[in-house]
This record gives sequence, structure tokens and C-alpha cells, in this order.
Amino acid sequence: MIISMIVAAGRNNEIGKSDDLLCHLPADLKHFKEITSGHTVIMGRKTFESLPKGPLPNRRNIVISRNVGLKIEGAEVYPSLDYAFIKLIDENEVFIIGGAQIYEQALPIADKLYLTRIHADFPEADAFFPKIDFTVWRETSRETFFVDEKNRYSYSFIEYER
Ligand SMILES: NC(=O)c1ccc[n+]([C@@H]2O[C@H](COP(=O)([O-])OP(=O)(O)OC[C@H]3O[C@@H](n4cnc5c(N)ncnc54)[C@H](OP(=O)(O)O)[C@@H]3O)[C@@H](O)[C@H]2O)c1
Repeated sequence: MIISMIVAAGRNNEIGKSDDLLCHLPADLKHFKEITSGHTVIMGRKTFESLPKGPLPNRRNIVISRNVGLKIEGAEVYPSLDYAFIKLIDENEVFIIGGAQIYEQALPIADKLYLTRIHADFPEADAFFPKIDFTVWRETSRETFFVDEKNRYSYSFIEYER
């Protein structure tokens, strides 16, 4: 099983504020959908609660929570990442989709990282992606896009492998 992480982060690894995303970047939402559709997505309970329409369609949704009684229609709830990986052993590739707590725990064991680097600072951020050790992670692809009428920040889609 390949463990991939996918995240959109500002220049300083900012990923969220007040349990929400930092900005609306439609090109990144499209990119996220293209990469994760048909696969399994794993998220923390707070990220799940931030999804505007509940479980993500066309994906197996896994939510990590210490609340053993938590039941969510359209998602499987597991008490830890390790437990989820045992349950998902037959999957080819799973995507860790956040948030900060789950990224922190998954980064040491992940194989691939899909990073959308938003070329902006977000001083109001209160959630961050962990520091990426570039002696461990090798960049395998990068595409950069500039501001347009729909996307108010420039951004790069970057892929890394361990
Ligand atoms: N920019 C991006 O790409 C991106 C992507 C995703 C999220 N985000 C942002 O990230 C922020 C949310 O991140 P967050 O760190 O506050 O929350 P989170 O990681 O989404 O969820 C935290 C919750 O996950 C559960 N959890 C964490 N570790 C666990 C463990 N070891 N065992 C069992 N359960 C565990 C706990 O749920 P219980 O409290 O239920 O036990 C915990 O409260 C939001 O601002 C969101 O918008 C950004």
C-alpha cells in the first residue's frame, strides 16, 4: 500500500485557520478531486467536520477519532491511523488529507507527498503542515500557475517521493 499525503500550504506551511481552509483556490480543489477520486481518503475528525457537504463523493472516506461511539453515515471511523492502515491493507494507495494533527502523525511513514504550494503568507493561520525534511523527500514534478480571474494566488503543484 502506498501512503500518499495531499495538502495545500502557504509559504510557511500554513494550512488552515479557525477549522477552515485559508483561501478558496478553485484550481486546487479540482486538482485534489482529480488525484483522490476513486481512492481512499483518511482525515482527522475536525477536517471531516469542515467538509461543506459531508463525505467526499467517489472516495472511501475514513475518519480518525478517539470517540469510539462516533458513527458517520458514508464514512468509516477508526481510533488511530495504525488501526486504519490495518483495515486498509488491501488498498493500492491511500491519501492522507489532513488536518494538522493527522499530517504530523503520517509524515514519518508516508511514501508520497502532493503539495500545492500557495505562493503567499497567511499570518492569521492557526494550523500548519509539519516541517518537510528535504534531505528525505525528493521532488519528482512541479508545475507553476499564476494568478488568474478564478485563482487569486499563484501556486505550484509539486510532487515528492521519499
Ligand atoms: N490546506 C489543506 O490542505 C488542509 C487539509 C485538511 C485540513 N486543513 C485544515 O486543518 C485544520 C484542522 O486540523 P486539526 O489538526 O485541527 O484537526 P484534524 O487533524 O483534522 O483532526 C483532529 C482530530 O483527529 C482525531 N485524532 C488526531 N490524532 C488522533 C489519534 N492519534 N488517534 C485518534 N484520533 C486522533 C481527534 O478527533 P477527536 O477529537 O474526535 O478524538 C482530533 O481532535 C483546519 O483548519 C482545516 O481546514 C487544511
